[in-house]
Amino acid sequence: MATSSSRSCLQYLLHLAHDNLDFRLPEIRSLLGLRAKPFHPSENFNEQSPFWCLNSLSEEDVRSVMARSVCSKSAFELWGHGHTHSELRTSLLNYPSEKMSPYMHKESTYKIDICSFNKTLLFADRIKKIDALEYLPFEGAVSLTSPQHTFCLLEDYGTDPNNIPEHPNYIYFGRWIADGQRELIQSFSVKNRHFIGNTSMNAGLSFIMANHAKVKENDLVFDPFVGTGSLLVACSHFGAYVCGTDIDYNTIHGKGRSSRKNQKWRGPDENIRANLRQYGTEKMYVDVMVSDASKPVWRNAALFDAIITDPPYGIRESTRKTGSNKDITKPPDGTYTESHVPVSQVYHLSDIFSDLLNFSAHHLLMGGRLVYWLPVYRPEYSDEMIPGHPCLRQISNCEQALSSHTSRRLITMEKIKEPEELDGFTHLSDPRSSPYQGHNTFREKYFSGQNKRSSKEDARSAVDGK
Ligand SMILES: C[S@@+](CC[C@H](N)C(=O)[O-])C[C@H]1O[C@@H](n2cnc3c(N)ncnc32)[C@H](O)[C@@H]1O
Repeated sequence: MATSSSRSCLQYLLHLAHDNLDFRLPEIRSLLGLRAKPFHPSENFNEQSPFWCLNSLSEEDVRSVMARSVCSKSAFELWGHGHTHSELRTSLLNYPSEKMSPYMHKESTYKIDICSFNKTLLFADRIKKIDALEYLPFEGAVSLTSPQHTFCLLEDYGTDPNNIPEHPNYIYFGRWIADGQRELIQSFSVKNRHFIGNTSMNAGLSFIMANHAKVKENDLVFDPFVGTGSLLVACSHFGAYVCGTDIDYNTIHGKGRSSRKNQKWRGPDENIRANLRQYGTEKMYVDVMVSDASKPVWRNAALFDAIITDPPYGIRESTRKTGSNKDITKPPDGTYTESHVPVSQVYHLSDIFSDLLNFSAHHLLMGGRLVYWLPVYRPEYSDEMIPGHPCLRQISNCEQALSSHTSRRLITMEKIKEPEELDGFTHLSDPRSSPYQGHNTFREKYFSGQNKRSSKEDARSAVDGK
């Protein structure tokens, strides 16, 4: 909710989508961060509200955020606001006329939209609300089909669908600047994607991850658990070069059983490169290869602007790494013969996350970001459980609930220093990683009672692309 403030500098109003609430603030902060702009909300800022008033920005800043934001519906230059229509009127009449006039003169065309949150308005009521704005000095002609300028009256009826007030709690009026990128959720839906798997990340969350990672044009982005490459698709759409690894030969080579209904085997050309081709970003494809994330193959240097990944939790797929529980003696010349096939062993969740953080500390460029999902058993969760690393600062921690007892958290970290010799071992003495040491205990808890049902539903949704 906004309060009246000095009219000397412009205020912008963001209208946010009312889902993935936790992810919105880190997204907008990160996108402003790409332009070195602060997040400076007006007084009485309420993170849960779908309307945020922001200060200290230019129209260009707002446009660039909207060109990337998946959490935002639209942005407006705020001309007036209030608890009632009468307060709105006073506020609008106080708005400097020189700021209004370029958009209201005789030669201009315009239209006014009405947007209500948590209440559906009848057509007749919408018209009445538009007519009630007749005190605004519009001189141009109305054009409903191709107006030069679009204005919007936005009414906020609170967030409780069981308690919708008769009158709005707050009202805003502004000039429309730009829409966010909500349409990417449909146009990149995994339902219509060429190559998918059981755990393909949905399009909206993939773009949100790319935004939290501050991925930008010409960055090099890496996904060590790449699967079908959903995160690479999102990052390449924002202009980054992308690469990845996965332990699964069939996934990397697009072979084996299909995850689609009514299709037994994957067809030719069902692979990550083809996914990028589908969306016109094949030129950003660097490569993917079969490799075990527990034994990285990269030279010892910082290489990546961002590392974005959805590691296996052992819920829908097993967490394996190469190696054997038996003591295999290395041949005397240090090499294995060509016929050697590495066996696999359990990859404990605690090792997955400590390897990932260590890898990121070594292979992110300074200031680069790691964005990854951490599975959580909610009854036992506390913020202290989030794995830490001396070289990585936690930027955000957003929850996506999966069932009453389970969720996953999207963790964003930023590299703040180069690793020193002992930095990689600090987690070993850190009791915070203990929930993930007991890999099987975590699995058992996850699958207990109703979670069993919801995780199955969850798995089905992923395949159906929901
Ligand atoms: C949750 S899925 C990633 C899904 C991916 N984001 C997508 O959109 O398709 C995790 C992936 O990690 C891979 N994986 C499991 N253990 C691994 C390991 N030790 N090293 C590399 N990849 C591994 C699995 O084969 C699986 O494809």
